[in-house]
Order: sequence, then C-alpha cells, then structure tokens
Amino acid sequence: RVAGPCVLVLFGVTGDLARKKLLPAIYDLANRGLLPPGFSLVGFARRDWQDQDFAQLTYDAVKANARTPFREEVWRQLSEGIFFCPGEFTDDGAFDALAMMLAEIDETRGTGGNYGFYLSVPPKFFPVVVEQLKRTGVAHGPAGSWRRVVIEKPFGHNLASARELNAITSAVFPESSVFRIDHYLGKETVQNIMALRFANNLFEPIWNRGYVDHVQITMAEDIGIGGRAGYYDGIGAARDVIQNHLLQLLALVAMEDPTSFDADALRREKEKVLRAVQLPHDLARSTARGRYAAGWQGGEPVVGYTEEEGIPADSVTETYAAIKLEIANRRWAGVPFYLRTGKRLGRRVTEVAVVFQKAPHLPFSKDETEILGHNALVIRVQPDEGVTVRFGSKVPGTAMEVRDVSMDFAYGESFMESSPEAYERLLLDVLIGDPPLFPHQREVELSWKILDPIEEFWATQGPPEDYPAGTWGPASADEMMARDGRVWRRL
Ligand code: BG6
Repeated sequence: RVAGPCVLVLFGVTGDLARKKLLPAIYDLANRGLLPPGFSLVGFARRDWQDQDFAQLTYDAVKANARTPFREEVWRQLSEGIFFCPGEFTDDGAFDALAMMLAEIDETRGTGGNYGFYLSVPPKFFPVVVEQLKRTGVAHGPAGSWRRVVIEKPFGHNLASARELNAITSAVFPESSVFRIDHYLGKETVQNIMALRFANNLFEPIWNRGYVDHVQITMAEDIGIGGRAGYYDGIGAARDVIQNHLLQLLALVAMEDPTSFDADALRREKEKVLRAVQLPHDLARSTARGRYAAGWQGGEPVVGYTEEEGIPADSVTETYAAIKLEIANRRWAGVPFYLRTGKRLGRRVTEVAVVFQKAPHLPFSKDETEILGHNALVIRVQPDEGVTVRFGSKVPGTAMEVRDVSMDFAYGESFMESSPEAYERLLLDVLIGDPPLFPHQREVELSWKILDPIEEFWATQGPPEDYPAGTWGPASADEMMARDGRVWRRL
C-alpha cells in the first residue's frame, strides 16, 4: 500500500493538531517509503509566510514529534515539495492563487491533479472553505484524477448541526470523497478488536448474552483541557469523545461480523449495532457527570476546571461522563455496556473490558473462592497495548483454593514491527482512497441520536458533580454502577 502521485492541502497548519500529529505523520509516511517522489504538501493559513516558513514549521514539528528517526535525505526530498499559500478563508484572491498553485504543482511535480483537502479548522469555517473549493473549481478534477476532503471532528454538536454540516459538504463533494477522521479507528489496538473477534474461533462463541455479564469501555486521561478552553467549554466530555471514539469502540465490540472489510460491509454492521443502541428510561440513574476540581496530578498541584484560563466560573460543562447503554438485538439483549471517560483522572488508560458471567456452579467451598472475580477479557487500547484474559486458577498448595490470574498478550513482546501512529495510517488511507476506517455520515447521525437525549437531560440539571483531580471521577458514577450490583474496574 503506497500512495500514488498527489498533493495534500492542509487548512489549519498553525494549529496544535498539525504540529503534533499531521505534519509528523506525513514525514513518517515519507520515511517509510509510502509517499511517491512528487508528493507535495500545501499549507494554507492567515500568515504572511513564504514556502520556507511553512517548511520550517514542518521541520520543527517533525523534529519534535515524528515517530521514525530523522533522516536528512528523506527530509530533503519531502521539503522540496512543501508550499505555502497565504490568505483568509474569505479571501477569493487567496483561493484563486491556491488553484493556480495546484495547477503549477501538477505541471512541475507530476501530481496528476489528485488533491486531498484536509480541513483541520474550527467547524464555523467549514462552509466557507468548502464553498471556496467549489468556486475555484478545485473540488472536482478531470476524469482520471481524484479530489477528497478530510474533515476533523467535531461533526456538529448535536444531530441537527451534524446534518447541517453534512449538507454543506455533500453539496460539493460526493460521499465517496468525504473522509471523516475519528483517530481512534486509526489505532492499531482498535483495529485489532476486529482481528481478535473475527480471525479467531476462540472468543466469538461466548461473545453474547449467554456468557457476557456486561462490557466496560473506559477512556481515562490524566491531562486537563490544556489550552483548549475555547473548544471544550460548552462541549464537554460526552460530545468530545463518547459521541465518536467510545461509540465507535462499542460498535466494533458489539457488531456482527462483516462479510468483508470493505467500507460498505463494515460500516453497515457498525450502523446496525448503533441503530440498536437503547438508552435506559431513567437517565438520572444510568448516567453520571463530573467536573474536575483542584487536586494533584503526578505529584503536582493542578487547578480545577472552572479555574482554567478561559473557562467561565459559572460553566456547567462536564469533564467526566459515564453512561449505561443497552443493545436491543438477539446477541446483546439485557447486557449493559458502560461507557466512561474523563479528564484529570488517576492515569491515562483506554480499555475495553468484556466481563463474563460467573460460573453457574462452583464445586469449591466459599472460603476457597471468596475473592474470585468474574472472568474478563480486557483489550488494552493504550498505553501498554495488549490483551489480558483474567480467570481463576488453583493456588499452589495442599488445599483447593482458587484465585484470579491473568494471561497476557503485549504488543511489545509479540511483535517486532512498530505501530504507525493513528494519523499516519489514516492519512495514508486518504491518499490511497481507502475508506473503511472513516465513519460514514449515517454513523455520525446515529451517534448523535444516542447522545442528544442525554445532553438534553443534563441541560436540565445543575452543574456536574466535582471530583478532585487525580481521582477516578464523581461518586455518582460509582453509585450508578452500585445500583446494578457492579463496580468500575480499578485501573
Ligand atoms: C480527542 C479529544 O479526540 O482525543 C481530546 O478531543 C482527547 O479531548 C484526545 O484528549 C485523546 O486522544 P488520544 O489518542 O490521546 O487518546
């Protein structure tokens, strides 16, 4: 899988995402030999810059954040194809210049009229950029060439706005040219959920209501909101990551096996399961919201959410959210899926835990099995990527005592190959035109349909419950589990 000749146009080059992820990912792709020699990168931003200024920004980003080692010759070749187009999104002249620049690059670098437009810009700018691409004619190429648009979340903040946004894009680009980034799908361990389930015969027979007690999907972060107050406030944890990353994880864990891994087959199965997701009737008892208060993280004191720069003191935005969902189909009826996420929690960890029912009968005395837990299969998405199976085992000795033990698969131990960064994988897919790992608009809408009623309910409640930074979230989240006779996994 190697990309053919093309140009990638990046809107939003001065943002965090470009510096931390996108520009380093482009270099890593080049370093792995996955970009063609004429590959060209055009940055567009409101800066009075020349090509070399953008090349310098790229160089700094690569030096700071690339995964693969720095190689002078790779950089030299890449940097020959780095261009910059200055301008405002509303400036027709700047987009006319961009169109001319692209035609010239095709001439000089043999990129064949193939363009990817990466919109790493706040959603309010989507309409104007898309409109400019249409007006200048670069949204559609001559026969034999391709034009694609990549959009970053948030895909709206509810169902209605997601539809509006889609109407704007789909008026210009056909669905097959739209690549919506959910970077969790680019993660090696997330794709491995499909391999684990469908490349093996070991797990699938018990992957259902007959054996599974419940599923816990956790995305915990130790960081706060950093410098993202403007984006985060009013959005909150559920819209930021449950609507996309966590519901995508749920879909991969709960879906039926697709007939193949082509985009249509895979998306169809994810859609089916998202369509079957049901909210519990009593949202007060089956959801929880929290907000970090001042506390400690990694031995350092940290401020609370409402003391963060740019956050109004009367904000009601949550930084922690937990919800219980059910899936109304034959496989999952009655099996709760608990989703939780939060910032400033005890540590950074994302995992999916499939917790099995206890053995129906234990031929041991109570003393011997007292501390025996549920069997569990835990997919460790990050860090410490791998899979753990937990089960009971006899404790060596003269008595029949049974205790929980773990069987472990760790990527670092089993594979020599290094994982590409999520953005690296996804950028390559865009340039190749391979859409399975990009959610379809229908998935986006189904996810908002799940979340909207919860957000509407929360909007009628007061501010979220405080939890000290560095702890595992609000008490109400533990109470929510306790009502079901369960506990969150200790991480
Ligand atoms: C982003 C969210 O989508 O994912 C951020 O907007 C979050 O709030 C980030 O910090 C986490 O990504 P990762 O890959 O570090 O788990």
